[in-house]
Amino acid sequence: MQPQRQQSPNRFIVGVTGASGADFALRLIWQLCKIEGESELIVSPNFFKVLASEAGVTDSRAENLVELSKQRFGDRETVHKFNYCDYRDIGARAASGSQWYKAMVIVPCSMKTLAAVATGLSQNLIERAADVSLKERRTLIVCPRESPLGIIHLRNMLALSEAGAVVMPLMPGYYHKPTTITDLYDFMVDRIMQHMEIDKRVIHPWQG
Ligand SMILES: Cc1cc2nc3c(=O)[nH]c(=O)nc-3n(C[C@H](O)[C@H](O)[C@H](O)COP(=O)(O)O)c2cc1C
Repeated sequence: MQPQRQQSPNRFIVGVTGASGADFALRLIWQLCKIEGESELIVSPNFFKVLASEAGVTDSRAENLVELSKQRFGDRETVHKFNYCDYRDIGARAASGSQWYKAMVIVPCSMKTLAAVATGLSQNLIERAADVSLKERRTLIVCPRESPLGIIHLRNMLALSEAGAVVMPLMPGYYHKPTTITDLYDFMVDRIMQHMEIDKRVIHPWQG
């Protein structure tokens, strides 16, 4: 077992891009606040365009996202360490295979970022870190959002799944009887955290 693994089992990369569903990212960040560990947080500038249109938020500083998640979902103690990374900094440590991370998640994942990762373009830190995750055989979870899906989107998802990524579209289930939109966010966040191998459930698993 790698020594880093013992020191910091919950070490993640969280990429956030400009697809609809900004609150899915904020809810994941909010849920991570209570988890011991650390995450590199990489945010596309296009995310802030979506956030402005969906939530009227005009602050576009990535370092304010944790606070913003608390404004939207409630104040809470934060034990998780978030390291803010410049989306353009392709030389950041998240870009290196020599670092150890338990998993990377891209939520929401635009069709543009999906295409870039599926074809190995690596033009920004999110795309590069995802490319590295695949080559290092780390868990990569991509949460695309688009409807309807075109054949190019579907081919790119298939390519990513074949390359070992977990393709988890933002398509919540309804069997937990959601009564608020936050219940729908939590459904997806719970599934994402399960694939991040976080030992904390947000939604009760289906009992049959
Ligand atoms: C309000 C708004 C909503 C958008 N929704 C989506 C979406 O649901 N899915 C998608 O693939 N792209 C969506 N886009 C387009 C992406 O933001 C665009 O393709 C961008 O280049 C993505 O870049 P990024 O992946 O680096 O953030 C949306 C853009 C805006 C402004």
